[in-house]
Order: sequence, then C-alpha cells, then structure tokens
Amino acid sequence: MSTAPALNMAGRATIDGTAIFGPLSFVAPAGEWTCLLGPSGVGKSTVLRLLAGLGDELLFLGEASAGDGAPLSGRVALMAQSDLLMPWLDLTANVTLGTRLRGQKTQQDRARQVLERVGLAGHAGKRPNALSGGQRQRVALARTLMEDRPVVLLDEPFSSLDARSRALMQDLSAEVLAGRTVLHVTHDTAEAARLGHHVLLMTRGGVASVPPPDSPIPRRYDAPETLEFQGRLLRMLMEAE
Ligand SMILES: Nc1ncnc2c1ncn2[C@@H]1O[C@H](COP(=O)(O)OP(=O)(O)OP(=O)(O)O)[C@@H](O)[C@H]1O
Ligand SMILES: [Mg+2]
Repeated sequence: MSTAPALNMAGRATIDGTAIFGPLSFVAPAGEWTCLLGPSGVGKSTVLRLLAGLGDELLFLGEASAGDGAPLSGRVALMAQSDLLMPWLDLTANVTLGTRLRGQKTQQDRARQVLERVGLAGHAGKRPNALSGGQRQRVALARTLMEDRPVVLLDEPFSSLDARSRALMQDLSAEVLAGRTVLHVTHDTAEAARLGHHVLLMTRGGVASVPPPDSPIPRRYDAPETLEFQGRLLRMLMEAE
C-alpha cells in the first residue's frame, strides 16, 4: 500500500440550481480515522461520492483532493450506503469483483480470509439474496477491505448490524485499516466516540471539528471518556440544525 494522503474537501455542490451542500471546508488528516456526523440530507454521502470521483450529476465548485497533490483516482475504496452487491454472484465472486474488473489475478485465499474475518466463511458460496441485511453489509465491508487502498471512504458501514456484531466489525476495521486515511460517515455517536481520531459535525452552516478523547482507537465502548464524548456529541447534534 502506498502512503495514505490527507483529504481536502472544500466548496459547494448544487444540482439544477438547488444547493446540495456547502460552502464547507474540512481536512481528513493523513493515515488517521475521521468520523463525519450530521443530520440526514445534509450532504454527507455526496461528499464521499465526490472524493471517490463520482457525482457527475452535480455542479461542484471547489476541491476534493489529496493533500500530497497527486490524483486520488485509483487510491480510494468507497463502501457506499447501499451495498451494491451483484445478486447473481456468490460472496467470493462479489468480494473479488474489483480485482477481476481490473484484470488482476483473483486472490481466492485472501477472499476466504476476509470473509472469515467478517464471520461469513460458511456462506462464501451463497448469493447475496440468501443473506440477512446485516450479513450483506458485512460482505460489502469485506469487499472494501479486499480493495487494499490507502484512502477508504465508509458510508454508514455498520448501520444494519446488531450491537455485538457492530462492535466486532468496528474492532476489525480499526485493525485492518490502521495507517490508512479513513473518512467514515455515521449516525451513531457511540461509533464515532469509539473510532474517530477526529470527529467532524456537518450542518447546513458548514463542518466543525469536535475533538474526541486522545485515547487510542478503537476506544473501549464502556470507558467513561468514550461515554462522556458520545453524550456531548449527541447534545451537539440535538442542538444542530
Ligand atoms: N442525484 C440527486 N439528485 C437530486 N438531489 C440529490 C441527489 N443526490 C442527493 N440529493 C439531495 O442532496 C442532499 C444530500 O444528500 P446526501 O445523500 O448526500 O445526504 P446524507 O447527508 O448522506 O443523508 P443521510 O444521512 O440520510 O444518508 C439531499 O437533500 C438529497 O435529497
Ligand atoms: Mg447518506
């Protein structure tokens, strides 16, 4: 994996003259985990899509770029809000889809390992429609981890999981993605309190940084500083517009 760059995001986006977000400005520091929270519809997924080089339907005035000045293209993996699994492919074929589309050698062993890490080893030959919503979400996470990119964009990756699976997948992701630049959209203040080296709050007025505890991530979910920060974040969200 090449060195993970910082992400710079600044500007505003519109569609047909209607504001989608901004003006806003923020940085996701290099090699660290940044959580992005904010009310539904404020534009979080759109920000991720722009950083992933998508969003051709938008008029975007600003920059969505890497801090090292090199193009982001080819260095980003996006786990989108909808799982985008291919219904006609089994799980192994779904998680190796990126490598096959790029004409690279398919890494069956690695696919098996990653599926095992997300707790789906016994389901590798199944198709997505034979899985629960939470299982599908873990396949999408496995596919993102398979991509092995220095920049990883996660759009509510654990939203369909039960509390225990969620905590386990948070731990796994923090371990596997350590050293990468992660920008993680979540509605879950407890999740942001566990995972963020940096926590950003996005409102119609822009993006504000809310400094989390300086303990290492993943933070213990029941540590007093994690719980205190989670409460503070929720209070800020309640007061945000
Ligand atoms: N292709 C599109 N055409 C028109 N409007 C769009 C399009 N994509 C997004 N929007 C609008 O842009 C705004 C931001 O959408 P976005 O999906 O980025 O929000 P979000 O913060 O991710 O919300 P949520 O938390 O519900 O996922 C919304 O008002 C949405 O209706
Ligand atoms: Mg969204």
